[in-house]
Amino acid sequence: MMGDVAEILIHSDQIQQKVRELGGQITEDYQGKRPLLVGILRGATIVMADIMRQIDLPCEIDFMEVSSYGSGTTSSGVVRILKDLEEDISGRHVIIIEDIIDTGLTLSYITRALRTRRPASLEICALLTKPSRRKVDLDVRYLGFEIPDEFVIGYGLDYAGSYRNLPHICVLKPEVFQGTPT
Ligand code: PRP
Ligand code: MN
Ligand code: MG
Repeated sequence: MMGDVAEILIHSDQIQQKVRELGGQITEDYQGKRPLLVGILRGATIVMADIMRQIDLPCEIDFMEVSSYGSGTTSSGVVRILKDLEEDISGRHVIIIEDIIDTGLTLSYITRALRTRRPASLEICALLTKPSRRKVDLDVRYLGFEIPDEFVIGYGLDYAGSYRNLPHICVLKPEVFQGTPT
C-alpha cells in the first residue's frame, strides 16, 4: 500500500505528538467537566481513537455520519444525517472530532444542527485543515496541522474508500487516480 504513496506529508510520530498536545489542551480546558466527544464517521475514527486516550478526564463518545454532498450540491452545502447521535446533547459539553476540514461545509452543517439541541458548549477539534479551500467561516478551537491543497490519505482519510489504515498522512502517486477522486 505504501507503494501507492508519493510522499509522506505528516509522519505518524508527528501526528501522535500533535494528538498528545491537543488531548492535553482539552484536558486543561475541561477540568471538572465530562465532555462528550462526537466523531464524524468515517474519517474521524482513527483520530477519535487516539485523542480520547490522551484526554485525562471522564468523558463519553458518540458518532454521527453525514452524507457527503455530491458535486451537484457543493454550493448549497446541504448535507443529510445518515446516522444520528445516540446521546441527548442538551446541557452537555460537546467536542466534535474531525480528521480534516476542506470547504468547511460538513462541519458548518453539523454545528448548526447540533446547536439547535442546546448543548452547554460546542467546540471543534480537527487534525487537519486546508485553509485555501475554505468556503465558510468556522471557529475551530483545537487544530492540528494546516496543509496545502493536496489530496491526502491515511490516518482515517480515504481515496475511494481505501488507505484509511495507513499510519501516516500521505500524498498518493498521480497514477493511482484513475477517475475523479470522491
Ligand atoms: C471528508 C472528511 C470531512 C469532510 C471535509 O469526509 O473526513 O468529514 O470530507 O470536507 P468539507 O470540509 O469540504 O465538508 P467524507 O465526506 O469524505 O466522508 P468520510 O469521512 O467517510 O471519508
Ligand atoms: Mn469525513
Ligand atoms: Mg472521504
